[in-house]
Amino acid sequence: MSSTLALIFIGVAVLFILGIKFLSSPKTARYGNLLAAAGMVVAFFATIPLMQLHEWNLNCTLMAVGIVIGLVIGAIGAYSVKMTAMPQMVAAFNGLGGGSAALVASLEFLRRSHSLEGVAVSAAVPMLFATLIGSLSFSGSIIAFLKLEGKFERPHTFPGQNFLNGLVLLVIRGLGGWLTFNASGSNSATAFVVMFVLALAFGVAMVMPIGGADMPVVISLLNSFTGLAVAGDGFVINNLSMIVAGTLVGSSGTLLTLLMCKAMNRPVTNVLFGAFGSGGGSQAAAGGVAGTVKPIQADEAALLLSYAQRVVIVPGYGMAVAQAQHSVRELSDELGKRGVEVQFAIHPVAGRMPGHMNVLLAEANVPYDQLQEMEAINPSMDRVDVCLVIGANDVVNPAAREEKSSPIYGMPIIEADHAKTVIVMKRSMAKGFAGIENHLFYKDNTRMLFGDAKASLNALVAAVKAS
Ligand code: TAP
Repeated sequence: MSSTLALIFIGVAVLFILGIKFLSSPKTARYGNLLAAAGMVVAFFATIPLMQLHEWNLNCTLMAVGIVIGLVIGAIGAYSVKMTAMPQMVAAFNGLGGGSAALVASLEFLRRSHSLEGVAVSAAVPMLFATLIGSLSFSGSIIAFLKLEGKFERPHTFPGQNFLNGLVLLVIRGLGGWLTFNASGSNSATAFVVMFVLALAFGVAMVMPIGGADMPVVISLLNSFTGLAVAGDGFVINNLSMIVAGTLVGSSGTLLTLLMCKAMNRPVTNVLFGAFGSGGGSQAAAGGVAGTVKPIQADEAALLLSYAQRVVIVPGYGMAVAQAQHSVRELSDELGKRGVEVQFAIHPVAGRMPGHMNVLLAEANVPYDQLQEMEAINPSMDRVDVCLVIGANDVVNPAAREEKSSPIYGMPIIEADHAKTVIVMKRSMAKGFAGIENHLFYKDNTRMLFGDAKASLNALVAAVKAS
């Protein structure tokens, strides 16, 4: 690689790193996204002279067709996807990335193993690694996508499943080990194809037992796998920017997975092997909640809000489903005009993807300084006059604190029940993501405002204006 190209790739790496840095705050996230995308464009065009240096026979027409198809699909997908379907889109794109990484490594392995060039052990390792990790990320992401789309959402388990998965993994490792030292052997192509197919099957077998609700964590994990596969490809085709980008995706995906698990107070192994959502724990926690449910109408709720000094809004998945973020902003503005202090309490795993609530509220231009992290707001929740819970359920469930047998016991929650009055907005008494009863709905200080969140919020805004 020429020194100019090396410098360009270092510049690309800087753009990627700055992009991630800026993504860490809602204020700078758009800018960060643009920086990282610019890095990707530069990396892409810088790769073409690199390929020429390798004297590869480039089919520019085919490449141009591929670029146009990719651009069109990416742009249509990005513009048309609903905010609630974002995790599916990430799963689909991640799967394509993993599949591409596996194909690059596979083709290079098969090409070199049947040429005079041969495959040295040092080259075979990253090739086989990228093939394995990329293909399991591909098939696993497809299953994650389908689960998020509501197909076979529940965990699919059978006795001896973990044993069978372990056995498949052992065979894959055996084949991988053999191919490392026998890349040019007479049966190497057959062994390679068998290993490839088994890796695809392992991706399916790994994700099928996991409940649909745990998919965001799984996608983040698969995302880190794709990153590592891309980094492996970078070593295979000697592309510095792929090594850097892949490593960044691999490490940030791993960190995000761990952070999500921490916010749910569950070890990664529990997500991967716990079949959360299969119903066992939920049933145990379903019955026996003391207290009664007390409904409230919009007019009465509006009076409570209008005469409060401090209101905390806790948004959750239901706000995303109802697309109620603009109505929430309107209510917050109306209350602000009346001198009410309004804050938003954001739980790290509210909704269905990391930062879900931040993105929605940013879209509605809710000022960032009104947003408070769970740890920051919890100590002062007992000084809140009204806590308005909008389509949030598990993230405010006191069972996480009070009931040892609950599947969410130990999960940090927003202490909405500590507020003087709690108004919960949802359509019914249906359970949330974890499939368990919410003790908050039965507390003495809780009132339930039933209905679609957007319709209820619009009614509240009208009633506040009229009061
Ligand atoms: P959930 O516990 O999923 O509850 C959402 C509630 O919204 C439901 O009870 C539902 O009740 C209500 N709802 C749905 N549509 C509505 C509408 N149109 N209007 C009003 N309400 C509506 O949500 P949460 O509190 O945000 O918790 C998130 C859960 O997802 C947590 O358990 C978390 O561990 C899990 N999770 C999150 C992530 C990330 S990264 N965010 C990743 C993995 C898992 P009704 O049907 O009665 O309306």
